[in-house]
Amino acid sequence: MDAISVIRTKRDRGELSDEQIDWVIDAYTRGEVADEQMSALAMAILLNGMNRSEIARWTAAMIASGERMDFSSLSRPTADKHSTGGVGDKITLPLAPLVAACGAAVPQLSGRGLGHTGGTLDKLESIPGWRALLSNEEMLSVLDNTGAVICAAGDGLAPADKKLYALRDVTGTVEAIPLIASSIMSKKIAEGTGSLVLDVKVGTGAFMKTLDDARELARTMVGLGTDSGVRTVALLTDMSTPLGLTAGNALEVRESVEVLAGGGPADVVELTLALAREMLDAAGLKDADPAKALADGSAMDVWRRMIAAQGGDPDAELPVAREQHVVHAPASGVLTRLDAYGIGVAAWRLGAGRARKEDPVQAGAGVELHAKPGDRVTEGQPLLTLHTDTPERFEYALRSVEGSYDVVPQGTDFTA
Ligand code: URA
Repeated sequence: MDAISVIRTKRDRGELSDEQIDWVIDAYTRGEVADEQMSALAMAILLNGMNRSEIARWTAAMIASGERMDFSSLSRPTADKHSTGGVGDKITLPLAPLVAACGAAVPQLSGRGLGHTGGTLDKLESIPGWRALLSNEEMLSVLDNTGAVICAAGDGLAPADKKLYALRDVTGTVEAIPLIASSIMSKKIAEGTGSLVLDVKVGTGAFMKTLDDARELARTMVGLGTDSGVRTVALLTDMSTPLGLTAGNALEVRESVEVLAGGGPADVVELTLALAREMLDAAGLKDADPAKALADGSAMDVWRRMIAAQGGDPDAELPVAREQHVVHAPASGVLTRLDAYGIGVAAWRLGAGRARKEDPVQAGAGVELHAKPGDRVTEGQPLLTLHTDTPERFEYALRSVEGSYDVVPQGTDFTA
């Protein structure tokens, strides 16, 4: 077997055989297939696609490249969720302790932000002392003792995906449904969760810009999970405007704690509860009441124990950016659009995200929203506050904010 014949098969719109897939994933993981060969193959897959059995075999080969975790020693059913990524998507933070408070064990392997989308680990690292890197034993112990753990995937889990994802990121081959589906599901299946809820984002701030693409991605992932014995369901949710009122690391932790305290923005609470119900259902805990666990403080108790178990201080002051810049409403009227992509890029440029994987992020940087689409605004009122430690970034971020919102004067006749 050689890489060139595998690339040619897919370049010429052929179907990859099981042997070709097993060989290329294994040889790439061991460094015998070069990055330039794998990127040519990834581009051929992006352009020509893969059928269902190719995707299933590709996923199985990525799982087989590393270890599989085992949570069978736990007394509770396991439930996990995965979001395909967006702007202001802090849902994992309140959701994991909430579902744990309702009786499930939530092993939440999470990622870092790249580009305009935020990452759960970057957000949690704004809590002084909190550690994302745990050994498998530590992860199991936090999960067993608190009911929830949010941490980075260890190096042993689907190493083929780790290598391939980094390569796709720099070769314009991220946005391929077979590659996204196999990447996400190889990690989730190897992680060993019993059930999985997928939050597939659709809109300007998501990987999937259209409902048709989001549906295809959701169907592909649900098929992969189900065929591997993981009870898997998917929700398609809007990512055309940011979730909640913040995009940025510490800003989003603060908002998540508000939700756990029984407050917080309505859209964040609504999505948290909707996903919690799906997770509890999939885990066989149909009688649990997540709204009650939010209201009575039991989700907050799990949060505090989970943060402390990973070295964090749940009572510590969260970092605040050194500089703020307020963007004011240009007219009185109704805010009809606040674009997730534009706000995500602004938060990223302010320092909440990184341009290269090795860059540090600023804990306090990001964007605070003072209005959401549908709200009435008055000329001159604050619309957005930009936060950063490095004020030279404001100009760059403002370029992204301009053109990301529309204020339509009240009484405009759209039928004329
Ligand atoms: N998240 C992943 O883990 N993989 C992808 O390919 C895209 C998003």
